[in-house]
Amino acid sequence: MSIVTSPFPLARSRRLRRTDWLRDMVSENTLAVDDLIWPIFVREGSGIIEPIASMPGVNRLSIDEAVKAANNAAALGIPCIALFPYTEAKDKNPECTEAFNPDNLVNRATRAIKAAVPNIGIMLDVALDPYNSDGHDGLVRDGIILNDETLLALEKQALVQAESGADILGPSDMMDGRIGIIRQALEANDFSDVAIMSYSAKFASAFYGPFRDAVGASGALKGDKKTYQINAANSDEALREVARDISEGADMVMVKPGMPYLDICQRVKSEFNLPVFAYQVSGEYAMIAAAGQNGWIDQEKAMFESLLAFKRAGCDGVLTYFAPEVARLLAEK
Ligand code: PBG
Repeated sequence: MSIVTSPFPLARSRRLRRTDWLRDMVSENTLAVDDLIWPIFVREGSGIIEPIASMPGVNRLSIDEAVKAANNAAALGIPCIALFPYTEAKDKNPECTEAFNPDNLVNRATRAIKAAVPNIGIMLDVALDPYNSDGHDGLVRDGIILNDETLLALEKQALVQAESGADILGPSDMMDGRIGIIRQALEANDFSDVAIMSYSAKFASAFYGPFRDAVGASGALKGDKKTYQINAANSDEALREVARDISEGADMVMVKPGMPYLDICQRVKSEFNLPVFAYQVSGEYAMIAAAGQNGWIDQEKAMFESLLAFKRAGCDGVLTYFAPEVARLLAEK
């Protein structure tokens, strides 16, 4: 792009910043409700709305409450929710068998929401960590996270999720070869319409801490996830992951975390012509919500600014815990 400007005072940047309507008229990016995917934590029980200490304003919901939340989200125009199960210790083991139980919590929640709110999309995470007594996204033997054995478990997990009615599967485990295995399994089992949003550029990050509390994985996790998630120092590697996932059958890709990785969002969007999403993860949410609660920043403004940044970086949408608040405020505008 060639940049042509005239010298001052022929050009005055402030002319177009003078009023709200003028700023809106020339704004290059906008945030809309259909850019939002809302991650929701589900738990067992009924009538339960349980606050998560490290994510002020976010709750774990029993299935009946999650149905109400999905209904509200649909009424607000939020296109899609992502469900994450809080798994009790008794349902975790080294084989992660609960992951491929067709009647596990997240599959029951999916069926209940699909029946009650048919016009909202449901995305489910494909990864073993909620069900693993080791807290890892893959099967573990002698302290090693096993790749190929994990793929077989992920394939089974993906099929029960598709069976329960999930519209989008989000493989978030970072094993090599998972997208190909899952795509082929979906094709072979009459689930060819199920979309895959791959967590392709998923970095080993400290910003997932509150999420691991929310799903009950913090206590279980031994060590860190650096042998499978991407090193925060790398950018070319993230592009290779995206390229590979597309070649294996991903329909959409994700960059995660979001705000510390806006450069990756921009590179992915400019290199590949498919939908790109960012996940504004639990730690990013917690920073804004906690500072907001303390009166240290204006939460509402920081929230909008952080989300608009993803659009500016080229993302087509954002997974954010702020989704219902943003949707309400956008509707009032
Ligand atoms: C699990 C998973 C994680 C998140 C989404 N799926 C955590 C992790 O990889 O440890 C993080 C989301 C967030 O922090 O909001 N595979």
